[in-house]
Amino acid sequence: MSESKITWCPSIIVRDDRYRLNNHKSCVLWLTGLSGSGKSTLAFEIEKELYNLNCHAYVLDGDNIRHGLNNDLGFSPDERKENIRRIAEVANLFVDAGIVAVTAFISPYRADRDMARSIFHKGDFIEIYVKCSLSECERRDPKGLYKKARVGEILEFTGISAPYEPPVLQEITIESERLTVSESVTQILDFLIFHNYLY
Ligand code: PPS
Repeated sequence: MSESKITWCPSIIVRDDRYRLNNHKSCVLWLTGLSGSGKSTLAFEIEKELYNLNCHAYVLDGDNIRHGLNNDLGFSPDERKENIRRIAEVANLFVDAGIVAVTAFISPYRADRDMARSIFHKGDFIEIYVKCSLSECERRDPKGLYKKARVGEILEFTGISAPYEPPVLQEITIESERLTVSESVTQILDFLIFHNYLY
């Protein structure tokens, strides 16, 4: 179907209506970092804290989304790009619905994260670099994947046999080797309060 035959149908309810109803703004908290850097742990803790503050938030997590929506995708550069594109589109719908979307994907390529950012309105995309050295991620190895990658049982594994390109213009950096989970959550909430996402 050619794109010219598709028409956008705008809602009667606009973003500000949803903000008033929820008493907070919406955005995506886009967590990026190596496997084992702490993205998922942090994402679910942020979701919990936002819930406790009466904010609507929802986590989209790499492993979980790859069980359903993206179960047709592997880990080649093109498949990762498609993974990120679909997630960004879904997260954008959450943001439009007035929800704080918290995404936890390695999203290793800078160009793919920039493509994701371009899908959102300005100010809706908050890139959070969950910074942790490869040696520490490998020491943690919570799923035993680094061990498998080292002996070639998993191919194209980020950090070992596939690249991770750290952000350069991220809004927030979380030093996950140095901070506790609770300190990391506080750093992110402080950012949201300072920038008036939470009233
Ligand atoms: S990506 O790069 O953003 O498309 O990856 P993502 O969707 O976040 O999926 C990462 C999780 O998949 C598991 N896994 C791998 N990760 C990296 N490289 C390879 N080859 C790979 N194979 C499987 C791994 O459990 C990742 O989860 P996290 O939570 O990051 O450890």
